[in-house]
Amino acid sequence: MSGRWFTVKETVLVTGGAGYIGSHTAVALSERGYRIVIVDDLSNGSPVAVDVIRRLTDTDVAFHEADLTDTGALDRIFATEGISAVLHFAGLKAVGESVALPLRYYQVNLGSTMSLLEAMDRHDVRQLVFSSSATVYGDPETVPISETAPTGATNPYGRSKLIIEDILRDVAASDDRWQFCLLRYFNPVGAHASGDLGEDPAGIPNNLVPFVMQVAVGRRPEVQVFGTDYDTPDGTGVRDYIHVVDLADGHLAALEALEPGCEAFNLGTGTGASVLEVIDATSLVSGREVPYTVVERRPGDIAVSLADPTRANDRLGWRADRSLETMLHDSWNWQSKHPMGFEDYED
Ligand code: NAD
Ligand code: WQD
Repeated sequence: MSGRWFTVKETVLVTGGAGYIGSHTAVALSERGYRIVIVDDLSNGSPVAVDVIRRLTDTDVAFHEADLTDTGALDRIFATEGISAVLHFAGLKAVGESVALPLRYYQVNLGSTMSLLEAMDRHDVRQLVFSSSATVYGDPETVPISETAPTGATNPYGRSKLIIEDILRDVAASDDRWQFCLLRYFNPVGAHASGDLGEDPAGIPNNLVPFVMQVAVGRRPEVQVFGTDYDTPDGTGVRDYIHVVDLADGHLAALEALEPGCEAFNLGTGTGASVLEVIDATSLVSGREVPYTVVERRPGDIAVSLADPTRANDRLGWRADRSLETMLHDSWNWQSKHPMGFEDYED
């Protein structure tokens, strides 16, 4: 992709910017000189995160509390904010919940994306970076996984991502003014170095690292390790964890490399860590014991997921540099500073 630099203070709409990845990306964008407008319905995000973004960046980030399916609200935002491009994070993301509530997942994830694309079209904004997921690769035949590997989701959440990818390809093919990037994240973890912005899952965390952090901080008694009989060196699942700040930088690189069409990029490190390695490393960085017990495999889990990030390295000029130790150190910094997340935040 050819490089394309935005002029300073160009305005970017960040959907889902009060959530985990969107908030970190808003900080990175703002630090690079972009003006940020956030739209979020706060169904899984926090208004405190928006305040923290403003404080960390010392800018007056605009925030609209709205559901993306509210076309009137979207029209008002596009009509008044002078938006040039969109980073689209908003959506529902819990795999298990999507199996129980498929209609809700299709309604929210597809409905909000359709509504957003139609509003963009009406207002002549045709650049969008989409939050896709490594989940679109299903159970991969080989690892590391390149973007040309077969796709095939195994749950409604993953299918919603695949369908949106197809929609974006179709829209790009219909009119070459559209410019799309599909960013397939591997396993985002970590937090902002300040310790004031991080992942704050509602209820019991589905993902390993937030669960391990809540055990380390004393909110939960022990980690359940979902299976030790996988075909991996220690028998536990291996994942490609990526620091959320590296991921945020990947969005900047993608935004600045947008060109007509629709291209997918893996955002991962290419290096894996097992469940037991994550637990051990968390004990080290936190200085706390992290008790665990081994239980049955979680249905739908795969043994190994690893990115081949070569395309993003070469074409976006981006690389995820932060180590697992840094990821867990920063997650712990956030968790220990704010044990109850944004709920007990004292500014
Ligand atoms: P998150 O839940 O923290 O953030 C999503 C935000 O979108 C929330 O703040 C939520 O309130 C908002 N939102 C949801 N529906 C909305 C709607 N209809 N209108 C307006 N706002 C709405 O999730 P995240 O971890 O930051 O993930 C961001 C994106 O990245 C999601 O699309 C997710 O599917 C994708 N993704 C996440 C991961 C991960 O492990 N966190 C991995 C791969 C892909
Ligand atoms: C990692 C490893 C588990 C929790 C999920 C989604 C994926 C993407 C990222 C959005 C696995 C093990 C976990 C626990 C455990 N999200 N584990 N005990 O499953 O790779 O990916 O989040 O797009 O779509 O599926 O991540 O963090 O849940 O699990 O042993 O309490 O930790 O079995 O090996 P996963 P994870």
